[in-house]
Amino acid sequence: MKKLAAGNWKMNGTAAALAEVEALLAAHPAPACEMLLCPPATLIAQMAQAARGSALMVGGQDCHPKASGAHTGDISAAMLKDAGASHVILGHSERRADHGETDALVRAKAEAVIGAGLMAVVCIGETEAERDGGQTLTVIGGQLDGSVPAGATAATLVVAYEPVWAIGTGRTPTLTEIGEVHAFLRDRLRGLVGGEADGVRLLYGGSVKPSNAAEIFAVPHVDGALVGGASLKAADFGAIVAALSA
Ligand code: 13P
Repeated sequence: MKKLAAGNWKMNGTAAALAEVEALLAAHPAPACEMLLCPPATLIAQMAQAARGSALMVGGQDCHPKASGAHTGDISAAMLKDAGASHVILGHSERRADHGETDALVRAKAEAVIGAGLMAVVCIGETEAERDGGQTLTVIGGQLDGSVPAGATAATLVVAYEPVWAIGTGRTPTLTEIGEVHAFLRDRLRGLVGGEADGVRLLYGGSVKPSNAAEIFAVPHVDGALVGGASLKAADFGAIVAALSA
């Protein structure tokens, strides 16, 4: 399978930041991995325009489970698609924490995304207290079971493992710990989507940087990365793209 370098800009970036996209595409016009950037919703259409005809795909960071209606401030999957998105991140830990998103809501959103013809990037991950308590596999196994829609396939689903305590902290699990979780997720996915599990990209996310990307990508069942801070700069994200293309 092709590996996936995905960037999550979170609530960062205005039109001026699109210069980073131009620099990224100039440096990596035809990477061996897939490349995805998920900017704030306000930039999706402009970024998709800048990425036209290139290897870069554009995604959203969240959507509403319904297709349309009286939901002030929300965006539907169909609207993201119309703006040029091909993927939508769902259930990021910041949304689970800031907006109280449950597994059931994340699954409903993922169903909407897949129903609209887009790929769902479903995020899961344990807190530091849960890891310290030896609960990591129980927690992420439960999140996976509850968040992945029935009938998801390798063509409609990506799963991102992002330990909450590794996001934006500069800390990462050991390579052994990452390997343990990713092997567990592959196995657990088989119970949910059968043989499709082997083709579903399992991304690692949480303080991925140019300096640690290559060693993390060498871990079995790590099929790419979901990158936060380091995706904002073309030079850093480009180095991660290069590490995944090696
Ligand atoms: P950082 O790469 O900034 O740690 O963020 C990871 C993340 O949350 C990506 O979704």
